Amino acid sequence: MRRFVVVGHRASTSPGFPLDDLAGGAGRMDLLLNAANAALLVSHDIRRDAEITLVLLGPPDPPVAIRLAGERLQSYSPDIRTDAGLVRAALERVSRIEREASPGVFVSRRGLAEVLDGIQDPLVELREDGKDIREVELPRDVAFVLSDTTDLTEEEEATVSRKRIAVCRVGPRSIHTDDAIAITHNELDRRHPP
Ligand SMILES: C[S@@+](CC[C@H](N)C(=O)[O-])C[C@H]1O[C@@H](n2cnc3c(N)ncnc32)[C@H](O)[C@@H]1O
Repeated sequence: MRRFVVVGHRASTSPGFPLDDLAGGAGRMDLLLNAANAALLVSHDIRRDAEITLVLLGPPDPPVAIRLAGERLQSYSPDIRTDAGLVRAALERVSRIEREASPGVFVSRRGLAEVLDGIQDPLVELREDGKDIREVELPRDVAFVLSDTTDLTEEEEATVSRKRIAVCRVGPRSIHTDDAIAITHNELDRRHPP
């Protein structure tokens, strides 16, 4: 399984977040859902061996973890407004114990530390100042953590650094979260063909 965890520092935890303002009123939910598309979609198909957890830390009731599991998703759309509807529905059903709000969409009251505690695979932090990913040996089953428009906070960095096996960069430029995921998938697809 290839896993991605993305921290959405401002991402709304309200089931009523505005579908017409995903970038603004919903706290960059657009960025998170574009990241989900990069993690889960290939041409005309879903990556069944991939999942992404979006850690929503915005108001009114953080934290919430939304886990999208490729092996369970049905009729997942590349249209982020449609996917935002799935997230909104999941936010109606937040509980401490993770539950499946709709096929492949899991929701729980968990922050970054608890999400990472639930991942057994080796964890790699994707960061602009890391080691070139091409120089790092990575297994087929691996997890990656990324941030949104801002860097991880000091506290989040401390949490990640206790678990990670490496900090990697995918290239010389600071790029968007979804692009970093797409490049990472490509690097691993080359090493571990599907
Ligand atoms: C837009 S960047 C973060 C913003 C940037 N650090 C800043 O404050 O200007 C979004 C995320 O994508 C990942 N990322 C961006 N460029 C990367 C690179 N060259 N290598 C690895 N990860 C990268 C990191 O996880 C980063 O936090």
